[in-house]
Amino acid sequence: MKPATSNQILLEWVDHWTGILGPDAVHWCDGSEAEYDALADGMVTSGTLRRLNDDLRPNSYLALSDPDDVARVEDRTFIATKDPLDAGPTNNWRDPTELRAEMTALYRDAMVGRTMYVVPFSMGPLGSPIAQIGVQLTDSPYVAVSMRTMTRMGQPVLDVLGDGDFVPCLHSVGAPLVNGAEDVPWPCNPDNRYIAHFPEAREIWSYGSGYGGNALLGKKCFALRIASTMAHDDGWLAEHMLVLAVTPPDGERRYVAAAFPSACGKTNMAMMVPTLPGWTVETIGDDIAWMKFSDDGRLYAINPEAGFFGVAPGTSHASNHNAMVTLHSNAIYTNVALTDDGDVWWEGMTDEPPERLTDWRGQPWTPDSGSPAAHPNARFTVPASQCPSIAPEWEDPAGVPISAILFGGRRATNVPLVTEARDWAHGVFLGSIMSSEKTAAATGRTGVVRFDPFAMLPFTGYNVGDYLAHWLEIGQGADSERLPRLFWVNWFRRDEDRSFLWPGFGENCRVLDWVLQRVDGGGDAVDTPIGLMPTVDAIDRTGIDVDDAAMERLLDVDPTAWEAELAMIEEHYDALGERLPAELRRQLEGLRDRLDA
Ligand code: GTP
Ligand code: SPV
Ligand code: MN
Repeated sequence: MKPATSNQILLEWVDHWTGILGPDAVHWCDGSEAEYDALADGMVTSGTLRRLNDDLRPNSYLALSDPDDVARVEDRTFIATKDPLDAGPTNNWRDPTELRAEMTALYRDAMVGRTMYVVPFSMGPLGSPIAQIGVQLTDSPYVAVSMRTMTRMGQPVLDVLGDGDFVPCLHSVGAPLVNGAEDVPWPCNPDNRYIAHFPEAREIWSYGSGYGGNALLGKKCFALRIASTMAHDDGWLAEHMLVLAVTPPDGERRYVAAAFPSACGKTNMAMMVPTLPGWTVETIGDDIAWMKFSDDGRLYAINPEAGFFGVAPGTSHASNHNAMVTLHSNAIYTNVALTDDGDVWWEGMTDEPPERLTDWRGQPWTPDSGSPAAHPNARFTVPASQCPSIAPEWEDPAGVPISAILFGGRRATNVPLVTEARDWAHGVFLGSIMSSEKTAAATGRTGVVRFDPFAMLPFTGYNVGDYLAHWLEIGQGADSERLPRLFWVNWFRRDEDRSFLWPGFGENCRVLDWVLQRVDGGGDAVDTPIGLMPTVDAIDRTGIDVDDAAMERLLDVDPTAWEAELAMIEEHYDALGERLPAELRRQLEGLRDRLDA
């Protein structure tokens, strides 16, 4: 197939890597529906995809991954900078020259027996001044079709690119088919995984995995790790945030962004069905926000993605109706269970599990099997445009002005339902001490509390101290009246019997209500050592089963527990290294003084 571009740098880059990777064929993706269908058909034939029942899930497919390739691999994610200090203490540093040599050896003939897809993609609406273009080389047709859903992909991107710059993204599953060897449904190379970033050259090299953020390089690798370094250099923000539009009855339409760590509720909140009468919430994005100042001095956000790559388990009509409707068609499911009639199922989708399933490993499953039918990090890939709650302005190239930003994690104790920052610098402090119990979105032990500043711990492409300084600087240079107000939230506080104290999901609009009242200069608040918190009656509880005692617990700042939290925060700050801004140390001292007072 002939590439329809005259971009010499791109053509030479593709030629160069074709020589090293040695694919049997090169396919330039045009992004058409016909191409998507043909690639999907090919994967049905090869056994990578199974087509679901068209009456139940039109135009949808199931993929089951290798059991060793099911989530992001943070211990194999590298930031390669000349100076290790520029990667900082929270990233795995590698010397770029060494890493390039090591990986080039792996890439040599890595695509033998396979087709190499050239995937041009835009993060952000095509031609938007905030958008950025990348080109991914991949030997995974699953990745190629997924990129069509998750990004604006294909020939129109090359047309916009012209002779301009792009971020080169190299990807191989690392499983060449030498001497006509037979393929497997999910080729990968779990013993040799590398998710490598070269922020100084703005390049991404990934090897050995075909799953999610390891392989769909526009997402975490580009739109967060590389884009965060671009944003740092150019005075904007690339963040792990959902963006929603909220309209109270007779109220002004506003935009709220929220940073929650992986599997802590971004997709759910972005598609929330608000329970307060007369309220609407609409979706701009569910995972990543790029924010820039406009001429009016406000921060405007775009969603750089075009699709959702969401956690399947726990998604139901009760928890996230809009996601369930979005998932009706044109979806690729990965590592969910299959029903006898060719539909999908996962834990939490229905109150009662089906009597029989094929589980995510392809094995027969019954409710007595003793293991989950869907992998805890099973995901769906689906176009955002199908979402019933998608906001009409979700593709506005200018973005939407942000009124409030929420920071939140999954904490059973200590962190209250909602806390407002005193000012921008205090809000940056709250963002920096965010923590969460680890989820299944990355490999490793779940449930352990880890600090995750701004939900960006695994996604900041440079030194975390410089990142926090950048957030402080964003506030210093701006008109404080026009900046978003900053809040800290926690939907996951638990009672002694481990049950959640707060109903969450659609009821979270009650917290949004208080947040917007605060933005407008209203809402009852009390000053506490950790920030401004609602009075017991400030959050509307009509119609929910949260009594005063539960609300008091949700808002409790227990001095003894906070002494222990403080000790943890101090340890966390010590680990952030020499570039931690002095202002944040001052904020920590302020917190200690207020707790001791
Ligand atoms: P990534 O896509 O990995 O970044 O995750 P995410 O932040 O989009 O999380 P998601 O919305 O998929 O939710 C993850 C899990 O949290 C699901 O099991 C949800 O059911 C659960 N969850 C989401 N919101 C709430 C809430 O308000 N309360 C409670 N208790 N659980 C929630
Ligand atoms: C996350 O882990 O935050 C995800 C999934 O959204 S992945 O794209 O695999 O990073
Ligand atoms: Mn999500």
